[in-house]
Amino acid sequence: MLTEIQTLAENLAPRLIEIRRHLHTHPELSGKEYQTAAYIAGVMSSFGIPVDEAVGKTGVVGNLLGSSDEKTLAIRVDMDALPIQECTNLEFASGTPGVMHACGHDVHTTVGLGTAMVLSQLSEAIAGNVRFLFQPAEEIALGAKWMVEAGVLKNVDDVLGLHVFPTIPAKSIGIRYGALTAAADDLEIFIYGESGHGARPHEAIDAIWIASQVITTLQQSISRTQNPLRPIVLTIGKITGGRAANIIADQVQMTGTVRSLHPETHADLPSWIENIVAHVCQTYGAKYKVNYQRGVPSVQNDFKLTQLLEQASREALGDEHIQILPEPSLGAEDFSVYLENTPGTMFRLGVGHQNRLNYPLHHPLFDIDESAILTGVTTLAYTAYKYFQQSAANKNELEKMGKVSAIP
Ligand code: NI
Repeated sequence: MLTEIQTLAENLAPRLIEIRRHLHTHPELSGKEYQTAAYIAGVMSSFGIPVDEAVGKTGVVGNLLGSSDEKTLAIRVDMDALPIQECTNLEFASGTPGVMHACGHDVHTTVGLGTAMVLSQLSEAIAGNVRFLFQPAEEIALGAKWMVEAGVLKNVDDVLGLHVFPTIPAKSIGIRYGALTAAADDLEIFIYGESGHGARPHEAIDAIWIASQVITTLQQSISRTQNPLRPIVLTIGKITGGRAANIIADQVQMTGTVRSLHPETHADLPSWIENIVAHVCQTYGAKYKVNYQRGVPSVQNDFKLTQLLEQASREALGDEHIQILPEPSLGAEDFSVYLENTPGTMFRLGVGHQNRLNYPLHHPLFDIDESAILTGVTTLAYTAYKYFQQSAANKNELEKMGKVSAIP
């Protein structure tokens, strides 16, 4: 079956490069992927895969029915672009000023379509259903929520995802056991003091000085009160307050981002932060308000699925093309929203050029080695095949042991 999948993928390669370049030339911002969605629906239908459109606003869901209803595996790819002016000078560079596929979601969409095309030609050999989730608005961390709320995970047993990665060379992938990305939350803190003359601080409550104490105490508390094996990054990225050089500020507003990996730490963060702010403000007579907005959770890859992905990709790509990633990233990814109730795993698809500078994601010069598309398709298609093969084998095993009785 592996050779069959590889041959099908290779035959599709020119078509897939054409698709990727089309998507790259026509990027659309988060939640506005109308043309992209219509294009995806057209390609899927041309391969005989029925689709639902306008799912979770602009999402597209394709349902490939295999030879059994036993299991449903979802494959999720995102399709939105970024508000960046592309500077690559590629012949298929963005035709929309100020919008660019600088995060490789054009590649993800293409890999999703390619996997659907390959599997649609093998549906007799696929002992289960594959649901393709073309998700909008990943860059604003809302698309996964929209899709899940629209019910796309109904009857889904497991979910696979991928993201391009320029520091891994094309033809290789990165696999990670456990946490892959961080939980990312938004933080807003107001400090309310009392205004006064800059020369008479004892008659006022200086909100700027108290804000500086809050920031310092938060940073120091991470190192002294939090488990160092469960990292937290707290960045105050914006601070505003005060009126003039000689007036003591009565109000300060700070906004920031909070990243964490461990689910328990993530759960404790709002009350931990509020406590610190409250104590500092109390000590110096200020009032406060903390707005803690939960963003996406951390992507926690399921062990068994990751093992299956590793096995399949070692066979399909060769050991030398598999990197087991030793560290997670503190970036965020809304794939985690699917994982809140469904096991899944996400891998990093190498897209780095050999012997050439590779610009990072979200950079106006970001550019990929297109051979990666084939690697992505082969990895997903073969992992999906093995997934159903393994669950069928498990079922047989259980039946032999008499654990699954043949209930009429
Ligand atoms: Ni991305």
